Parts: sequence; C-alpha cells; structure tokens
Amino acid sequence: MFITLEGVDGSGKTTQAELLVAALGRNTVRLREPGGTPAAEEIRSLLADPETPLDPIAELLLFCAARADLIGRVIKPALETGQTVVCDRFVDSTIAYQGVARGLGIVRVREINDAATGGLDPDLTLLIRIDPAKGLRRAQSDDRFEAEGLRFQERVAEAYDDISRREPHRVTVIDGEGTPEEVHARIMAVVEAKLAR
Ligand code: TYD
Repeated sequence: MFITLEGVDGSGKTTQAELLVAALGRNTVRLREPGGTPAAEEIRSLLADPETPLDPIAELLLFCAARADLIGRVIKPALETGQTVVCDRFVDSTIAYQGVARGLGIVRVREINDAATGGLDPDLTLLIRIDPAKGLRRAQSDDRFEAEGLRFQERVAEAYDDISRREPHRVTVIDGEGTPEEVHARIMAVVEAKLAR
C-alpha cells in the first residue's frame, strides 16, 4: 500500500506522517520528497536554498529527478516486498506548486512526471487542508516556496482542491484544524477503512 500526504506549507503533514507511521507499525517506511536517497537529498538542499536562482523548468526537472531516484531505489523495492510506504509529498505537490502556482501548466507537468514515475500512483492520498495564511505563519523554514508569499500558497491550495475534486477515489481531504491528535484520528479513520477493503 502506497500512501501520500499533501498540503500547503505548514499544514502539519510532517507531524501527521510521523504519527501515521508509528500507528501502522513495523512494516512501514516513511519517506519525504524531495529526498530519501543520497542523490535526492543533494537535490533537496539545492532546491531548498532560496539563494540559488533556478529557472522554473530546471526546478521542475530537479523535483522529478529526485522522484525518479526515490521510486526506483526505494519505493518500488519496498512495495514489492509488501511494505506500506508513507510519503510526505509526491506528484500532486509538483502539479500544485510547479504546474499551477508557478504556472508551468498541468499537462506539461503531468507528462514529465509520468516519465519520472513510470505511472506509479498512490493507493491513497491524504490532503491535509488548512487555511494557507495560517500555514504560512506556522511554517518556519523560509524555503524558496514559503518566500513566495501568501498568494502563491493560495494558488497551491486551490490546485489541491481541484485535484481532490477530480480524483475523489484516490484523494481524501482531511480537516487539518485542531490538535495533532485530532487530525491523526481523522487520518486513521480513513486509512483503516482503506485497509479493511
Ligand atoms: P519541505 O521543507 O519538505 O516542506 P514541507 O514540510 O511543507 O513539505 O520543503 C518542500 C518544499 O518543496 C515545499 O515548499 C513544497 C515544495 N515542493 C514543490 O514545489 N514541488 C514538489 O514536487 C515537491 C515534492 C515539493
């Protein structure tokens, strides 16, 4: 089973990924994008540095390169041995951030992602929804996307909502307001229902 978590910066995904993996137990791998392999971690530090100027297409290709390496070297082997993979961000992040908020276009971003993923789709995507303004206040890393400001995060949030409307069978919206434990309980209800099917 391949589960991804998505949401605007500061939505609490990372805490929720931790709680989910702890609840699912031993046979579960926790990953975050970009990252998870030596090459992808190097790409992550390049992408995170707001001082390194990057052409938007180069930025898109770097996210996809990190993703291809993570899929080939970690995600596929884990799924093949029956492990559950929980990944903090995946293709939907690239659609929302690069495709919509950066304006590169959903069709182009999807095509390039298909090349990177070989068509691998999550079984379940948990979209943690919070007010983007609140998220931006909460996010403290000040990376190149947080530095883009509120309007950018609002475009990301709208793009996520579109994805959830278009793919309701895969994407479940989780209310991200409340304590981490409250949000975790909402997530567990959805994951347990999916596992029981
Ligand atoms: P990170 O520190 O992991 O942020 P968060 O904890 O909010 O996930 O940084 C990842 C940043 O990269 C985040 O701002 C979203 C952005 N991003 C993209 O723009 N495109 C992508 O494909 C991915 C995976 C992340």
